Amino acid sequence: MAPAPFIIVAIDGGAAAGKSSAARALSERFNLLHADTGSYYRAVTAALLGRQVAPTDLTAVQAALPALRLTTRIEGKSARMEIDGQPPGNEIRSAAVNDAVSHFAAIPEVRDSLLAYQRGQADAARAHGFAGLVMEGRDIGSVIFPDATFRFFLFADPAERAKRRAREGQQDTVAERDRIDSSRKTAPLTCPVGAFSLDTTLLTLHQVVERIAAPIAALLAAP
Ligand code: C5P
Repeated sequence: MAPAPFIIVAIDGGAAAGKSSAARALSERFNLLHADTGSYYRAVTAALLGRQVAPTDLTAVQAALPALRLTTRIEGKSARMEIDGQPPGNEIRSAAVNDAVSHFAAIPEVRDSLLAYQRGQADAARAHGFAGLVMEGRDIGSVIFPDATFRFFLFADPAERAKRRAREGQQDTVAERDRIDSSRKTAPLTCPVGAFSLDTTLLTLHQVVERIAAPIAALLAAP
């Protein structure tokens, strides 16, 4: 039997569409390195805000980005970003970061500064003996890994998504972030052509995972 192929699974979708829970479950089930790129944009946002850089000040953003040293720490099955050797703290889920992150993420230079870093997580997965990579975000199947082995796009009713965040104890403006993320010029949030799209509004996490795990399990079981 041929060795199992190294697989890349891209999961895109709006805020609180169920990406993180599904990606974590796939990571456990198939031994995939899990990369939550939303947390990368959040970490960069927190670092820029910490340097008093506003998303409206493009010159300051351009000056600050090259100075951020981005490295990865593998923690269990997660690829965590560190900036200047420091893991980001709880501030990446703060109201200030929730409000600012989509504005920074709409700036092409910010996206460029994360492009190679995100693609490099496939090498990190190989180097650490994982069977593949599962990466979640907004532009993974469209820009970062358009040739991913599997590309999924999750969406859910906005009221249900707001409820999910509230249940997590978070005040998050999911609809406003989606509006900015979907309307930006560079790498907007959209279902990539050819991706498998799934409405998670009425599905349990278990059902979401079963739907997206089925084709992966089939590929890995193929002789
Ligand atoms: O996934 P999460 O909701 O934590 O992402 C925070 C924000 O990061 C998004 O609202 C979006 O503005 C940005 N993001 C992005 N591209 C990605 C991942 C996240 O623009 N691949």
